[in-house]
Amino acid sequence: MTRHLLKAEIHCHLEGAAPPDLTRAQAQKYGVDVSSILDENGYVWSDFSAFLVCYDAVASLFRTADDYAKLTESYLAELAAVNTIYSEIIVSPDHGDRIGLGADAYLAGVCDGIHAAREATGIEARIIVTGERHFGPERVIAAAQYAARARNPLVTGFNMAGEERMGRVADYARAFDIARDAGLGLTIHAGEVCGASSVRDALDVVRPSRIGHGVRAIEDTALVERLAELGTVLEVCPGSNIALKVFPDFDSHSLRALKAAGVRVCLNSDDPPFFRTSLAREYEIASSAMGFSDAEINGMTRTAIEAAFVDEATRVRLLSRLDAETGDDGRKPA
Ligand code: ADE
Ligand code: ZN
Repeated sequence: MTRHLLKAEIHCHLEGAAPPDLTRAQAQKYGVDVSSILDENGYVWSDFSAFLVCYDAVASLFRTADDYAKLTESYLAELAAVNTIYSEIIVSPDHGDRIGLGADAYLAGVCDGIHAAREATGIEARIIVTGERHFGPERVIAAAQYAARARNPLVTGFNMAGEERMGRVADYARAFDIARDAGLGLTIHAGEVCGASSVRDALDVVRPSRIGHGVRAIEDTALVERLAELGTVLEVCPGSNIALKVFPDFDSHSLRALKAAGVRVCLNSDDPPFFRTSLAREYEIASSAMGFSDAEINGMTRTAIEAAFVDEATRVRLLSRLDAETGDDGRKPA
């Protein structure tokens, strides 16, 4: 049982965390027919491309700052209820623009949700602005410019999500240069739908401290060694990877081999209800399906906090909370 363990998550897409019931209520509120993307069993999609279409359709049902505040607060409250002390939420100002709300109001709603959740539960959270790769380089650059301009203390990172098969990482390099120059932490989705070469491109072009997924790096031994040497943290999302058929089952998932090779890894839920998962379930999978000990799992939580895009005082506070709970400094080999 992992319920009692303290948890941290650094890879979850905000609209991807919308519970089906909430999405249904939003659809009713705005008079939208969602029968093609939502049935009595949850979200409906068949492959990665269909998943992205489903995701964008769900995102289009959150239309006001208040909608976003409620979504954010309810997700963070759910995390806090399972002993999560830190969360990074991936948000896309493009979604705010696409629904006519505007990026500022979208972001203000998310910030309100974070403040309300912190007040109610004590959970600490930060925002990672993401560009959606399938909207093209110009939109991704615009997202980076927006994040850089925002100078919002809760916006601490920049990411690129979306259709990994679209274009080369180099086409999006300028976006990451803008975000880096603004002092934002960098992470990028790679090695999920595409293989090891996408992780290599990400390292060469972006030089991120973290990679979203990165699990297909396992296809190239030299690359695994390079990740271990660099200390790049992989934001691993096992349930997502199985749902999207990146690996056929948890036994063949690369998490254990990557960790054994010295790559820094942590556990995340990605888009939990889309993949019939939750952060609590990801911890449970790590324990019961993948056989990690509590000490190893605490080590992964520690890695998430070490890699978090937060100020040092917050990091120290979060690490001491974890250490007080685990009874050691977490740096001993697990
Ligand atoms: N957007 C939301 N979830 C994603 C994922 N798993 N990969 C790429 N883009 C995403
Ligand atoms: Zn993701």
